[in-house]
Amino acid sequence: MVGDFATAAANAIDAGFDGVEIHGANGYLLEQFLNPTVNDRTDRYSADTLENRLRFVLEVVDAVIARIGAQRTGIRLSPFGKLFDMAHYDAIEETYAALMAALGRRRIAYVHIMDQTGFFYDEGSTVPVSDRIHALMRQARPHLSTTALILAGGMTRERAETLIADGTIDLAAFGQPFISNPDLVARLQNGWPLATPDRATYYGGDTKGFVDYPAFEDQ
Ligand SMILES: Cc1cc2nc3c(=O)[nH]c(=O)nc-3n(C[C@H](O)[C@H](O)[C@H](O)COP(=O)(O)O)c2cc1C
Repeated sequence: MVGDFATAAANAIDAGFDGVEIHGANGYLLEQFLNPTVNDRTDRYSADTLENRLRFVLEVVDAVIARIGAQRTGIRLSPFGKLFDMAHYDAIEETYAALMAALGRRRIAYVHIMDQTGFFYDEGSTVPVSDRIHALMRQARPHLSTTALILAGGMTRERAETLIADGTIDLAAFGQPFISNPDLVARLQNGWPLATPDRATYYGGDTKGFVDYPAFEDQ
Protein backbone atom coordinates (compact mmCIF):
# COMPACT_ATOMS: atom_id res chain seq x y z
CA MET A 1 0.00 0.00 0.00
CA VAL A 2 2.85 2.38 0.79
CA GLY A 3 4.25 1.76 -2.67
CA ASP A 4 0.83 2.35 -4.22
CA PHE A 5 0.57 5.80 -2.61
CA ALA A 6 4.06 6.71 -3.86
CA THR A 7 3.27 5.49 -7.39
CA ALA A 8 0.00 7.41 -7.43
CA ALA A 9 1.81 10.57 -6.33
CA ALA A 10 4.48 10.16 -9.02
CA ASN A 11 1.77 9.54 -11.63
CA ALA A 12 0.01 12.76 -10.59
CA ILE A 13 3.19 14.80 -11.00
CA ASP A 14 3.87 13.13 -14.36
CA ALA A 15 0.34 14.11 -15.41
CA GLY A 16 1.11 17.76 -14.64
CA PHE A 17 -0.18 18.35 -11.13
CA ASP A 18 1.75 20.78 -8.91
CA GLY A 19 1.48 18.55 -5.86
CA VAL A 20 -0.39 15.82 -4.06
CA GLU A 21 -2.59 15.86 -0.97
CA ILE A 22 -2.32 12.57 0.88
CA HIS A 23 -5.77 11.80 2.27
CA GLY A 24 -5.32 10.96 5.94
CA ALA A 25 -8.75 12.24 7.01
CA ASN A 26 -12.41 11.32 7.08
CA GLY A 27 -12.14 7.67 8.12
CA TYR A 28 -10.09 6.55 5.16
CA LEU A 29 -7.21 4.08 5.37
CA LEU A 30 -4.61 6.28 7.03
CA GLU A 31 -6.96 7.38 9.80
CA GLN A 32 -7.89 3.75 10.42
CA PHE A 33 -4.30 3.14 11.52
CA LEU A 34 -4.26 6.23 13.75
CA ASN A 35 -7.50 5.47 15.57
CA PRO A 36 -7.04 2.83 18.30
CA THR A 37 -10.77 2.02 18.33
CA VAL A 38 -10.43 0.78 14.73
CA ASN A 39 -6.82 -0.43 14.53
CA ASP A 40 -6.85 -4.00 15.85
CA ARG A 41 -3.53 -5.08 14.40
CA THR A 42 -1.05 -6.90 16.58
CA ASP A 43 2.13 -6.20 14.60
CA ARG A 44 4.35 -3.11 14.52
CA TYR A 45 1.44 -1.14 13.00
CA SER A 46 -0.75 -1.88 16.03
CA ALA A 47 -2.48 0.63 18.27
CA ASP A 48 -0.37 -0.42 21.26
CA THR A 49 2.03 2.50 21.03
CA LEU A 50 1.87 5.94 19.48
CA GLU A 51 4.91 5.12 17.36
CA ASN A 52 3.19 2.04 15.94
CA ARG A 53 -0.06 3.90 15.21
CA LEU A 54 1.78 6.65 13.32
CA ARG A 55 3.98 4.21 11.42
CA PHE A 56 1.81 3.64 8.34
CA VAL A 57 0.99 7.33 7.85
CA LEU A 58 4.62 8.34 8.11
CA GLU A 59 5.76 5.52 5.85
CA VAL A 60 3.30 6.75 3.21
CA VAL A 61 4.45 10.35 3.65
CA ASP A 62 8.11 9.37 3.44
CA ALA A 63 7.54 7.24 0.34
CA VAL A 64 5.65 10.08 -1.38
CA ILE A 65 8.35 12.59 -0.42
CA ALA A 66 11.01 10.27 -1.82
CA ARG A 67 9.24 10.22 -5.18
CA ILE A 68 7.98 13.80 -5.61
CA GLY A 69 9.70 15.93 -2.94
CA ALA A 70 8.47 17.38 0.35
CA GLN A 71 7.60 20.72 -1.23
CA ARG A 72 5.02 18.98 -3.45
CA THR A 73 3.53 16.92 -0.63
CA GLY A 74 0.58 17.89 1.54
CA ILE A 75 -1.68 15.87 3.82
CA ARG A 76 -5.26 16.09 4.98
CA LEU A 77 -6.16 15.11 8.54
CA SER A 78 -9.39 15.18 10.56
CA PRO A 79 -8.71 15.08 14.29
CA PHE A 80 -11.98 14.41 16.17
CA GLY A 81 -13.45 13.03 12.96
CA LYS A 82 -16.45 10.72 13.17
CA LEU A 83 -16.97 9.87 9.52
CA PHE A 84 -17.31 6.20 8.63
CA ASP A 85 -17.85 5.22 12.26
CA MET A 86 -14.62 6.69 13.61
CA ALA A 87 -14.99 6.95 17.38
CA HIS A 88 -13.33 9.49 19.64
CA TYR A 89 -10.55 8.28 21.94
CA ASP A 90 -8.54 9.74 24.81
CA ALA A 91 -5.29 10.24 22.93
CA ILE A 92 -6.59 12.35 20.03
CA GLU A 93 -4.58 15.44 20.97
CA GLU A 94 -1.45 13.42 21.75
CA THR A 95 -1.76 11.54 18.45
CA TYR A 96 -2.17 14.56 16.21
CA ALA A 97 0.38 16.67 18.09
CA ALA A 98 2.99 13.96 17.56
CA LEU A 99 1.94 13.45 13.96
CA MET A 100 2.06 17.14 13.09
CA ALA A 101 5.47 17.51 14.73
CA ALA A 102 6.74 14.57 12.65
CA LEU A 103 5.29 16.14 9.50
CA GLY A 104 6.94 19.46 10.34
CA ARG A 105 10.31 17.74 10.64
CA ARG A 106 9.76 16.41 7.12
CA ARG A 107 9.09 19.97 5.88
CA ILE A 108 6.09 19.01 3.77
CA ALA A 109 4.21 21.80 2.00
CA TYR A 110 1.11 21.85 4.18
CA VAL A 111 -1.12 20.16 6.72
CA HIS A 112 -4.80 20.54 5.84
CA ILE A 113 -7.10 19.99 8.80
CA MET A 114 -10.75 19.14 8.15
CA ASP A 115 -13.07 20.20 10.97
CA GLN A 116 -16.09 17.97 10.46
CA THR A 117 -18.26 19.57 13.11
CA GLY A 118 -21.31 21.28 11.76
CA PHE A 119 -20.92 19.61 8.39
CA PHE A 120 -21.26 15.87 8.65
CA TYR A 121 -22.69 15.60 12.16
CA ASP A 122 -23.38 17.38 15.39
CA GLU A 123 -24.92 20.49 13.93
CA GLY A 124 -25.55 23.14 16.53
CA SER A 125 -23.14 21.83 19.17
CA THR A 126 -19.95 22.51 17.31
CA VAL A 127 -18.04 24.85 19.57
CA PRO A 128 -16.10 22.54 21.90
CA VAL A 129 -14.57 20.27 19.27
CA SER A 130 -13.74 23.18 16.97
CA ASP A 131 -12.00 24.94 19.86
CA ARG A 132 -9.99 21.81 20.59
CA ILE A 133 -8.95 21.62 16.93
CA HIS A 134 -7.85 25.25 16.98
CA ALA A 135 -5.86 24.64 20.17
CA LEU A 136 -4.22 21.63 18.58
CA MET A 137 -3.22 23.72 15.58
CA ARG A 138 -1.78 26.48 17.76
CA GLN A 139 0.17 23.87 19.70
CA ALA A 140 1.51 22.35 16.47
CA ARG A 141 2.48 25.68 14.93
CA PRO A 142 6.04 25.89 16.38
CA HIS A 143 6.79 22.46 14.90
CA LEU A 144 5.59 23.47 11.42
CA SER A 145 8.06 26.22 10.59
CA THR A 146 8.07 25.60 6.83
CA THR A 147 4.71 23.80 6.65
CA ALA A 148 1.53 25.80 6.05
CA LEU A 149 -1.53 25.08 8.20
CA ILE A 150 -4.86 24.98 6.36
CA LEU A 151 -8.29 24.61 7.97
CA ALA A 152 -11.52 23.58 6.25
CA GLY A 153 -15.04 23.10 7.54
CA GLY A 154 -17.74 25.67 8.15
CA MET A 155 -15.40 28.47 7.08
CA THR A 156 -16.67 32.03 6.70
CA ARG A 157 -14.78 35.16 5.74
CA GLU A 158 -15.00 36.43 9.33
CA ARG A 159 -13.83 33.14 10.82
CA ALA A 160 -10.97 32.93 8.35
CA GLU A 161 -9.83 36.46 9.10
CA THR A 162 -9.90 35.87 12.86
CA LEU A 163 -8.02 32.56 12.68
CA ILE A 164 -5.39 33.97 10.32
CA ALA A 165 -4.97 37.14 12.39
CA ASP A 166 -4.44 35.24 15.64
CA GLY A 167 -1.92 32.90 14.00
CA THR A 168 -3.98 29.71 14.25
CA ILE A 169 -3.94 29.05 10.49
CA ASP A 170 -2.12 30.21 7.37
CA LEU A 171 -4.88 29.47 4.86
CA ALA A 172 -8.64 28.96 4.95
CA ALA A 173 -10.28 26.32 2.74
CA PHE A 174 -13.89 26.45 1.57
CA GLY A 175 -15.97 23.50 0.35
CA GLN A 176 -19.71 23.95 0.16
CA PRO A 177 -19.61 27.72 -0.43
CA PHE A 178 -17.73 26.98 -3.67
CA ILE A 179 -20.58 24.77 -4.87
CA SER A 180 -23.18 27.54 -4.66
CA ASN A 181 -20.84 30.45 -5.43
CA PRO A 182 -18.78 29.86 -8.57
CA ASP A 183 -17.31 33.33 -8.00
CA LEU A 184 -16.63 32.74 -4.31
CA VAL A 185 -13.29 34.53 -4.27
CA ALA A 186 -14.74 37.68 -5.84
CA ARG A 187 -17.68 37.58 -3.42
CA LEU A 188 -15.35 37.32 -0.42
CA GLN A 189 -13.08 40.06 -1.76
CA ASN A 190 -16.00 42.44 -2.40
CA GLY A 191 -18.14 41.55 0.60
CA TRP A 192 -20.98 40.41 -1.66
CA PRO A 193 -23.60 38.07 -0.15
CA LEU A 194 -23.11 34.32 -0.51
CA ALA A 195 -25.70 31.98 -2.03
CA THR A 196 -26.70 29.05 0.17
CA PRO A 197 -26.06 25.60 -1.34
CA ASP A 198 -28.96 23.20 -1.69
CA ARG A 199 -27.97 20.06 0.19
CA ALA A 200 -30.73 18.08 -1.51
CA THR A 201 -28.71 18.08 -4.74
CA TYR A 202 -25.46 16.82 -3.16
CA TYR A 203 -24.37 13.37 -4.32
CA GLY A 204 -27.05 13.50 -6.98
CA GLY A 205 -25.08 11.76 -9.70
CA ASP A 206 -25.47 14.47 -12.31
CA THR A 207 -24.53 18.12 -12.79
CA LYS A 208 -27.66 19.62 -11.21
CA GLY A 209 -26.73 21.64 -8.15
CA PHE A 210 -23.04 21.59 -8.98
CA VAL A 211 -22.55 23.77 -12.08
CA ASP A 212 -25.76 25.79 -12.34
CA TYR A 213 -25.45 28.45 -9.62
CA PRO A 214 -25.11 31.96 -11.13
CA ALA A 215 -22.29 34.38 -10.43
CA PHE A 216 -23.26 37.43 -8.35
CA GLU A 217 -22.63 39.91 -11.13
CA ASP A 218 -24.84 37.94 -13.55
CA GLN A 219 -27.90 38.26 -11.32
C1 LIG B 1 -20.98 17.17 -1.97
C2 LIG B 1 -19.72 16.99 -1.16
C3 LIG B 1 -18.95 15.84 -1.34
C4 LIG B 1 -17.79 15.64 -0.61
N1 LIG B 1 -17.06 14.51 -0.79
C5 LIG B 1 -15.95 14.29 -0.06
C6 LIG B 1 -15.20 13.10 -0.23
O1 LIG B 1 -15.53 12.23 -1.04
N2 LIG B 1 -14.09 12.93 0.52
C7 LIG B 1 -13.69 13.87 1.43
O2 LIG B 1 -12.68 13.68 2.09
N3 LIG B 1 -14.38 15.03 1.59
C8 LIG B 1 -15.48 15.25 0.88
N4 LIG B 1 -16.21 16.42 1.07
C9 LIG B 1 -15.73 17.41 2.06
C10 LIG B 1 -14.97 18.51 1.36
O3 LIG B 1 -13.76 17.99 0.81
C11 LIG B 1 -14.55 19.64 2.33
O4 LIG B 1 -13.65 19.16 3.31
C12 LIG B 1 -15.69 20.27 3.05
O5 LIG B 1 -16.77 20.51 2.18
C13 LIG B 1 -15.19 21.56 3.69
O6 LIG B 1 -16.15 22.07 4.57
P1 LIG B 1 -17.23 23.18 4.14
O7 LIG B 1 -18.07 22.55 3.10
O8 LIG B 1 -17.98 23.44 5.41
O9 LIG B 1 -16.48 24.38 3.62
C14 LIG B 1 -17.37 16.63 0.33
C15 LIG B 1 -18.14 17.78 0.49
C16 LIG B 1 -19.31 17.96 -0.23
C17 LIG B 1 -20.11 19.22 -0.02
